[in-house]
Amino acid sequence: MRSHYCGALSTAMIGEVVTLAGWAQRRRDHGGVIFIDLRDREGLAQVVCDPDRAGAFKLADKVRGEFVLRITGLVRARPTGTVNPNLPSGEVEVLAHEVEILNPSMTPPFQIDDENLSETVRLEHRILDLRREVMQKNLRLRHRTARAARAFLDDRGFIDIETPVLYKSTPEGAREFLVPSRLSDGHFYALPQSPQLFKQMLMIAGFDRYYQIVKCFRDEDLRADRQPEFTQIDVETSFLGEEAIRTLMEALARHLFKEVLNVALPEPFPVMTYEQVMRDYGVDKPDLRVPMKLTELTDIMKDVEFKVFSGPANADGGRVAALCVPGGATLTRGEIDGYTEYLRGLGAKGLAWIKVNEIAKGAEGLQSPIVKFFPASVLHEILSRTKAQDGDLIFFGADKATACNACLGGLRQKVGHDRGLAETGWRPLWVVDFPMFEYDEEAKQWQARHHPFTSPKDGHEAFIETDPGKAYAKAYDMVLNGWEVAGGSVRIHRQEIQQQVFRSLRISPEDQQAKFGFLLQALQYGAPPHGGIAFGFDRLVALMAGAEAIRDVIAFPKTQRGQDLVTGAPSPVTERQLRELHIRLRNSD
Ligand code: AMO
Ligand code: AMP
Repeated sequence: MRSHYCGALSTAMIGEVVTLAGWAQRRRDHGGVIFIDLRDREGLAQVVCDPDRAGAFKLADKVRGEFVLRITGLVRARPTGTVNPNLPSGEVEVLAHEVEILNPSMTPPFQIDDENLSETVRLEHRILDLRREVMQKNLRLRHRTARAARAFLDDRGFIDIETPVLYKSTPEGAREFLVPSRLSDGHFYALPQSPQLFKQMLMIAGFDRYYQIVKCFRDEDLRADRQPEFTQIDVETSFLGEEAIRTLMEALARHLFKEVLNVALPEPFPVMTYEQVMRDYGVDKPDLRVPMKLTELTDIMKDVEFKVFSGPANADGGRVAALCVPGGATLTRGEIDGYTEYLRGLGAKGLAWIKVNEIAKGAEGLQSPIVKFFPASVLHEILSRTKAQDGDLIFFGADKATACNACLGGLRQKVGHDRGLAETGWRPLWVVDFPMFEYDEEAKQWQARHHPFTSPKDGHEAFIETDPGKAYAKAYDMVLNGWEVAGGSVRIHRQEIQQQVFRSLRISPEDQQAKFGFLLQALQYGAPPHGGIAFGFDRLVALMAGAEAIRDVIAFPKTQRGQDLVTGAPSPVTERQLRELHIRLRNSD
């Protein structure tokens, strides 16, 4: 049907007769001459139809946006002055000899090259949206990334093994999607939140190295970086420890960036402990492009008059910390109020600040509603610890450490980007040594921080049941520019330790058998030491593509409300379907 892609035309083809096929992006009538921008996946070609070729000209006159055309014509140089330097094919045009309308199109709801479309419109008309250059690029980048990942893992002996999608309901963290069973009345499958236990069983089965690019399902509240079904590059290996796994997976990340973007990621990635990142950045996935760190002030605030600070400073688990914003003294009251409101949204009680106008003038040189509460020695210590310079602004947070960290950590990221303080480029890191458990205040019990199959650090086994807060895990996250792109761990391979963890999570022996009996049994048949990781593939690709939301790198994503606007899923089903599945709707008998 065609000889060349539109976007592939170049001056090398001048003088050749080519046949192109694609969509009419625009048709312009220039008084007697009709120009058509013909688009295919490689780009645009300018087609010129002049009245000398009456047949072609007549058809060209009928062409409208998104008509599918086949055009045969002569490639020629564009007249000087009409060259389009933004298009690869911008130096040439095609003088049409023949025009064929392969299919007309209804008037599309938007112009394909319109860059200001609302996301709802885009998701409703996803097929047209996907015709846009940026979406074509994103999905091809996704393809190249998947391909590079497979090549890397294949070369290192990893075997792609599929695991079931109809799985068993197991408490693993997020809420599950359930699938009713027709053959077993009242029984349900669950869609896997990840293939976690299957990949562990494949290790016990002796495959040694497994990978899969696999769909995972979680019925969570959706955000820019979360979808109810998303894709992982899921990896597991036997007989490797934490560091060896991290090294291998870091090499994978480096390979992907090199192959797909020709970017050399820093080598090696910095490794920071969970405690360190919480102390310095307030979040467990710091954006290292933002150069600021939090400053610890808890110890010097214990005796100050200002109760807002001395309260948390003296409380168990309280924290007072500061964030010094270079050049921040130029922030207006309105801007500071804006940040205060933003933090209130994150649960902050307030946001105290000091504008550092002129350090040499002592307290006089500081502008702030709170300096009056501090003796000179404390002011001096604040300035020296934050390394504040004239012209800076210091923000303060005081609360339970978790709340203080969330606020100042969020503020650091936001102010850093708003004020143009962030570096460009790629700043990956590993976060390691996570606590095994975190206390759930609402449920009044310990929860697994990663998942309950994560191994304790050597020597921490004893804490699992006696003092869960003290047990640290062989868990690691890969963080890139403020996104958690991968998370993994060394697993528990001894049955008795796995049982200890279940017990400390208050899973009864009956429930352990009912939910995880298959795992506990498998662990008794010679389970090797093993561990792995899963990359959030959508997140990785979104970062690489420079997309703001993972929806932009997924062909058919769900909306924030979990709907697929193209097909209309989820949708009602017939009563008969429900009856077959033994499901009764309320109000029906
Ligand atoms: P985890 O739950 O951390 O680990 O998931 C691994 C990575 O998957 C991505 N991710 C998501 N991406 C899009 N939408 C979501 N709803 C979503 N949830 C998670 C994140 C995350 O880092 N089985 C373990 C891995 C292991 O231990 O090997 C697991 O699933 O980028
Ligand atoms: P107040 O005396 O309550 O008006 O507070 C004085 C300043 O402290 C204001 O700028 C408040 O926004 C700020 N502030 C109040 N609570 C906190 C807190 N928990 N952490 C940091 N700043 C706070």
